[in-house]
Amino acid sequence: MTERRDTGPTADFGYERVPREEKKSRVRGVFDSVAPRYDLMNDVMSLGLHRLWKRFTIAQSGLKKGQHALDVAAGSGDLSVGLARRVGPKGRVYVTDINARMLALGRDRLLDAGFAGNVAYVEADAEALPFESQSFHCVSIGFGLRNVTDKAAALASMYRVLKPGGRALVLEFSKPSLGPLEAVYDTYSFQVLPRLGEWLAGDAASYRYLAESIRRHPDQQTLKALMEAQGFERCEYFNLSAGIVALHVGYRL
Ligand SMILES: C[S@@+](CC[C@H](N)C(=O)[O-])C[C@H]1O[C@@H](n2cnc3c(N)ncnc32)[C@H](O)[C@@H]1O
Repeated sequence: MTERRDTGPTADFGYERVPREEKKSRVRGVFDSVAPRYDLMNDVMSLGLHRLWKRFTIAQSGLKKGQHALDVAAGSGDLSVGLARRVGPKGRVYVTDINARMLALGRDRLLDAGFAGNVAYVEADAEALPFESQSFHCVSIGFGLRNVTDKAAALASMYRVLKPGGRALVLEFSKPSLGPLEAVYDTYSFQVLPRLGEWLAGDAASYRYLAESIRRHPDQQTLKALMEAQGFERCEYFNLSAGIVALHVGYRL
């Protein structure tokens, strides 16, 4: 798959093309709608697998006690909690999201997990992160990049705020190699997911968007090349669950 760069007057919103300036508010609408059932839906849709994907991601962070980490598009904060555990009480974690409702879920999650004092919450757009250059040892984005209008701008922004030697973690749905099970995956994505969304969250459309946005997202190699184009070095990716999800890791050297 080659990615259509979203720099023109329109952008992908799932399978729809929408005016570029409209995409952010459409995405915000999706997450406003799904926020109350977000965690439940993640567990149901992935049969709990998202927890393993996120655990693997944190294990690749290379973070040590006392270091600084940034979670972009943090949502309900699963990765943020993992980052906070790694850096410990002397470290610092910034939890950021463009959506205030999702960020509030993240704050509740971190407080429930016992993290306070060294965690900050910032409403921020991945495309223009409001942090000093070279501030963080690790920057993560989990299932967020797919929703961003200009992915190159978001990756460039993540690169800018990384310290030399720091690494970026990009966890996202990707292009699976499922062979004969591909048809099952398609049926699951386009028939089952929207019904689950309707049933559990009263919202089929947002889960149809989820399935469509996954198909529109660049595949493993394309995303790796996009990261390299923003300056990341030693980029590699790990296919998880046969590539249904991939973790891309890239360094600022
Ligand atoms: C699928 S959720 C992922 C949440 C969390 N990282 C996780 O792995 O469960 C996607 C998140 O991306 C956020 N988001 C969408 N566009 C964004 C943007 N341009 N900048 C920052 N966050 C964005 C949404 O508000 C939402 O909370």
